[in-house]
Amino acid sequence: MRSSELDEFVERVRERSDIYSVVSQYVPLTQKSGRYWGRCPFHNEKTASFTVNADKGLFYCFGCGAGGDVFKFLSLIENVKYFEAIKLQAGRLGIELPARKLSPEEDRRRREEKILLKLNELAQDFYHECLIKTARGEVGRKYLAGRGISAETIETFKLGFAPDEWENLVNRFTRQDFTPQQLEAVGLVAKRKNSSGYYDRFRRRVMIPIADIHGHVVGFGGRILQSDDDTAPKYLNTPETVLFNKRNLLFGLDKSARAINAAGAAIVVEGYMDAISLFSAGVKNVVATLGTAFTPEHAKLILRYAKKIIFCYDSDEAGQRATVRALPIVQAEGAEVFVVKVPDGKDPDEFIRKHGKTAFDKLTQNAATLIDYRMKYVLARAELDTVQGKIRALQEILPVVVKITDSVTRNEYTKKIASALVFDEQLVIDAWNKFLKQSEQTTADEPEKKSSAVKRPRLAEESKPTIREACEVILRMIWHEPDMLEYVLAVVSNENFSAAHKEIIAYIKNCVERGARPDQFGAAEILSDEATAQLSRILMNGSDDPRTSEMQLFNDSIQIMKRAALKKRYNELMAQAKAYISSDEDIYAKMVYESLELKHQIDKLKVN
Ligand code: UTP
Ligand code: MN
Repeated sequence: MRSSELDEFVERVRERSDIYSVVSQYVPLTQKSGRYWGRCPFHNEKTASFTVNADKGLFYCFGCGAGGDVFKFLSLIENVKYFEAIKLQAGRLGIELPARKLSPEEDRRRREEKILLKLNELAQDFYHECLIKTARGEVGRKYLAGRGISAETIETFKLGFAPDEWENLVNRFTRQDFTPQQLEAVGLVAKRKNSSGYYDRFRRRVMIPIADIHGHVVGFGGRILQSDDDTAPKYLNTPETVLFNKRNLLFGLDKSARAINAAGAAIVVEGYMDAISLFSAGVKNVVATLGTAFTPEHAKLILRYAKKIIFCYDSDEAGQRATVRALPIVQAEGAEVFVVKVPDGKDPDEFIRKHGKTAFDKLTQNAATLIDYRMKYVLARAELDTVQGKIRALQEILPVVVKITDSVTRNEYTKKIASALVFDEQLVIDAWNKFLKQSEQTTADEPEKKSSAVKRPRLAEESKPTIREACEVILRMIWHEPDMLEYVLAVVSNENFSAAHKEIIAYIKNCVERGARPDQFGAAEILSDEATAQLSRILMNGSDDPRTSEMQLFNDSIQIMKRAALKKRYNELMAQAKAYISSDEDIYAKMVYESLELKHQIDKLKVN
């Protein structure tokens, strides 16, 4: 496309885009002194400071300073780039983008993709007809009726049924000018392993078409009928294809986008049946992941329509764990995160069928904030009858709560945490501050850590030495380089070594004092049998480790020893602190701070 054509295109779209009618689709506007006013959609406000000047084609918010033309508005509210917003608006107005000349390769790919989409659409129609019209579909109809799914819902989601035949689809579609390779490319058929030819992937399953955001069918989920054998997977999905990528697909989004925008929130569930069930009960702002973890791509898709994401995963342990994993991802994308826990171990589908929409709405209205959920999750699993357990819980809660900046909320949470953990409030406040300070330090440390990691390759994960190996590496080093003894004993105190190792160290020390070099025969005269055996073992394990230099191994070993020493101290301290928990709170608290400090040092010493 030449740039003049592009200019013309943009102008044509602009001319036909009235900023008032575009904005008012998202924000209710009222007219006052020649301008339109509304509550700004880009920040939280109670009084209207967002204005639209229709004559000039501009909007501006006196509250947050957001402003610009109609495309800027669209790009902000839909969370897309400026040019994407122009194209979006063009699409809504039915203005076609001037055709760019495609390369032959692009052209071929584009056409192939169109064919594949068509194929999926025809397959959807075929399965759907089979479900609603044929005798073979009877079992499918019965199954869905048994789940309380209405004819209307079957129509809305174009649910279908795959007949119990091996070559129905493959024969049908190859008669209609599609090739088996094309059918295989969309995952509808698979190649036979032991003979030539192809077979239908989906057989005797209720078919759930999965569409992209434009409503194009890109894949299917097939649910097994209840009565069938339970060795087969409950759901069979389209495999990854050029059209079907679970990482950036959300089931139902094509149908729920409007409702998500209107509600300002999306409800995310785990299963498509949950989404279908909620949607047909009138909870329309719902999407489902496709049996995979929630990804940043998923978050971005939702954020185009709403800031708020409400997770409503199954209340079993797997579902809760999946929720916990999803939360930081979503938070990092800037969403406001809430979590609903469906009571009595039910999934959202069962819940809404039993208790109805109003009860479900109540659940989402009272959804826990990310922080409350995290606290509950940690507390439910914490061992609150031991001090270690309580400290651990505190350590797990702090990373989430310290994100609170508002002081009132902060106080509230300090109190909540203190009472839940039966800690003194001041102690929680101090731990909180300490955590903040530490995380600042850690962030400041990071660039340096990174550059040193580049310069100095670390031991590979699988070869992380044990404490015993670390001791051996250290002893081998000081055996060959006795001058390093002083350094070693300064950073890792003597008491951390075993009795046999202590003997060897004493021998080396003695040599250094005499100005002599350690030698194996001299050592053998003085050392116990055990220490002599250990020494041979140490010296036999040659130094030329192909993975890494001896010096680096040595440094890592020192780190390991330091860490072990700190850990030991930490455990001792915690054991001591326990004795004071009911008698002297001050001493107890002091020990807890000290142990937090140790914990931080330990974490910083992790050998990668
Ligand atoms: P669930 O096992 O929670 O299913 O799996 P569900 O949604 O409650 O289904 P019904 O009510 O028993 O019919 C949740 C999601 O995990 C994926 C599917 O995407 C499903 O919707 N899944 C599950 C699979 O892909 N394969 C399976 O075998 C099971
Ligand atoms: Mn279910």
